[in-house]
Amino acid sequence: MKLFIDTANTEEIREASELGVICGVTTNPSLIAKEGRDFVEVVKEITTIVDGPISAEVISLEHEKMVSEALELAKIHENIVIKIPMCAEGLKAVKILSEKGIRTNVTLIFSAAQALLAARAGASYVSPFLGRLDDIGSEGMILIHDIAEIFSVHQISTEIIAASIRHPIHVIEAAKAGCDIATIPYKVIMQMIGHPLTDAGIDRFLKDWEGVPKK
Ligand code: E4P
Repeated sequence: MKLFIDTANTEEIREASELGVICGVTTNPSLIAKEGRDFVEVVKEITTIVDGPISAEVISLEHEKMVSEALELAKIHENIVIKIPMCAEGLKAVKILSEKGIRTNVTLIFSAAQALLAARAGASYVSPFLGRLDDIGSEGMILIHDIAEIFSVHQISTEIIAASIRHPIHVIEAAKAGCDIATIPYKVIMQMIGHPLTDAGIDRFLKDWEGVPKK
């Protein structure tokens, strides 16, 4: 399973990229708003940090307008993937964009039916939102398993991005379920690095090293 970072903060993207663990970035309008910077400026900067798929979301709700926004965003860099919200107009936009060879990531997926429709419309990626389902007491991981099974049985090449990740267990469970990608907030990437036994192990090695005779 590949790992993307889910943020529009370029410092976080830079740090995660230096770790060598991420190969893509997802943003959304809320993440962009948090940065208080111009959308296009942020996306352009991200393209200079990560050489991989970078999702940038349209905000229109009519397919013609989604397509025009998408065409502008796609001009920024060849790595831009157009994020389209799941809805009937979104599916129409996905169809048109995929016919033009522009990659799309259908976001706000909360059911396997939505994922199947998005894939059939020509989406390159679907983003089921794990954490937001868990938040309302519905098990997000069941959705991931359902989509993975359907795509596998029917040999659908659309990639599954586990999104709305809240903690490291989400990442591991998504990997076991066969997700192609998990898009992870910076904080969770940092949580994945640490383990108290690793820290204790490093301390012990350094302490024991002090007892090694030095010439
Ligand atoms: C995915 O691409 C979205 O940006 C993201 O995962 C949403 O997560 P949230 O539920 O934490 O806002």
